[in-house]
Amino acid sequence: MMDLFPLLFPMLLTLQSSAFLELQVPEVPVVALFGQDAILNCSFDPTGAFNLSDLNVFWQLTDTKRTVHSFWADRDQLADQAEGFANRTSLFHTQLSSGNASLLLRNVQISDDGSFTCFVSSGTYNSASMLLQVAAPYSKPVVTMEPNSNLRPGDYVSLSCAAYGGFPMAEVLWQDAGGRNLTDNVTTSQVANEEGLFSVRSVLQVMVEPQSTYMCRLSNSLLREEGHASVTISGQGVAFPTVALWVTVGLAVCLLALLVALALVCRRKIKESCEEEKQVRFLDVVTTLSC
Ligand SMILES: *[C@@H]1O[C@H](CO)[C@@H](O)[C@H](O)[C@H]1NC(C)=O
Ligand SMILES: *[C@@H]1O[C@H](CO)[C@@H](O)[C@H](O)[C@H]1NC(C)=O
Ligand SMILES: *[C@@H]1O[C@H](CO)[C@@H](O)[C@H](O)[C@H]1NC(C)=O
Ligand SMILES: *[C@@H]1O[C@H](CO)[C@@H](O)[C@H](O)[C@H]1NC(C)=O
Ligand SMILES: *[C@@H]1O[C@H](CO)[C@@H](O)[C@H](O)[C@H]1NC(C)=O
Ligand SMILES: *[C@@H]1O[C@H](CO)[C@@H](O)[C@H](O)[C@H]1NC(C)=O
Repeated sequence: MMDLFPLLFPMLLTLQSSAFLELQVPEVPVVALFGQDAILNCSFDPTGAFNLSDLNVFWQLTDTKRTVHSFWADRDQLADQAEGFANRTSLFHTQLSSGNASLLLRNVQISDDGSFTCFVSSGTYNSASMLLQVAAPYSKPVVTMEPNSNLRPGDYVSLSCAAYGGFPMAEVLWQDAGGRNLTDNVTTSQVANEEGLFSVRSVLQVMVEPQSTYMCRLSNSLLREEGHASVTISGQGVAFPTVALWVTVGLAVCLLALLVALALVCRRKIKESCEEEKQVRFLDVVTTLSC
């Protein structure tokens, strides 16, 4: 009989685990929007001798084991609820008896991002963990240029692309007019505010070339959302060289006209002086002859 125990032991375990409660939570992470409400689904099989006053439901943070919501003796038990969850959680009491132990989490915060464990017991028990991913959309990006006047070709300008209020961190990509990725001379910083939402600022340094366009593409990979903004360094931005060009052309035209006028005057003068000389020579000849 003693020798049989090692053989029976795994069988006993199997029997016991088949007596475990069937528990279901989402297998893929649940994405919830910051500030909105989320339902963390957890359902169990209520068949068999089920008595609501024997039911215990615990929701806790998987990592820290801090209590999110507790229910036993037929009522919510919130004495040991972690601070951040006060007034933000509830169970669907009318649906408990049909096996719905889902948690309603109101006004989702960035700090809620993470793993939650649902524990249910009613004679038998089980627990399961699920992931909550919090997302917040970024504002539309805005691109500014510094400096933005008195630009000459060859100068360096800083193009800044900014957006705020998003989560998780953004992916920022700069492209030129031909859609080529620009990765050199790009500095991107992302800073979280006290709510955990990020402000993004990406700076691209480029050499001024008139009529060049740069686009900033900013995306939130969790929400699969993208915003973009672009800036064109136009002839207007590059004001000084354009004016200088026209001044130069104008001056050149004036100079040319002046030269032409001068040439005409000179030619006339030369002609006149030649004729005078001829006349003088003629007189010379005459005087010589007369002599
Ligand atoms: C929760 O479960 C219900 C019923 O199975 C389903 O319709 C709903 O989409 C689920 N919600 C989430 C956030 O998983
Ligand atoms: C539990 O009940 C709530 C409220 O009716 C519902 O939104 C949710 O989808 C239910 N969850 C499951 C897993 O049935
Ligand atoms: C449920 O449990 C309570 C307390 O254990 C008991 O008084 C009640 O009779 C039970 N109800 C059923 C339907 O078994
Ligand atoms: C929760 O709600 C109660 C009653 O409305 C209120 O007195 C308490 O200050 C609230 N707690 C938090 C943390 O909001
Ligand atoms: C630009 O970068 C993005 C993201 O890194 C990539 O998906 C894309 O293929 C790149 N495009 C080019 C033209 O290199
Ligand atoms: C990056 O900046 C350096 C000088 O700061 C410059 O020499 C280089 O050409 C720039 N690269 C690009 C791709 O603009």
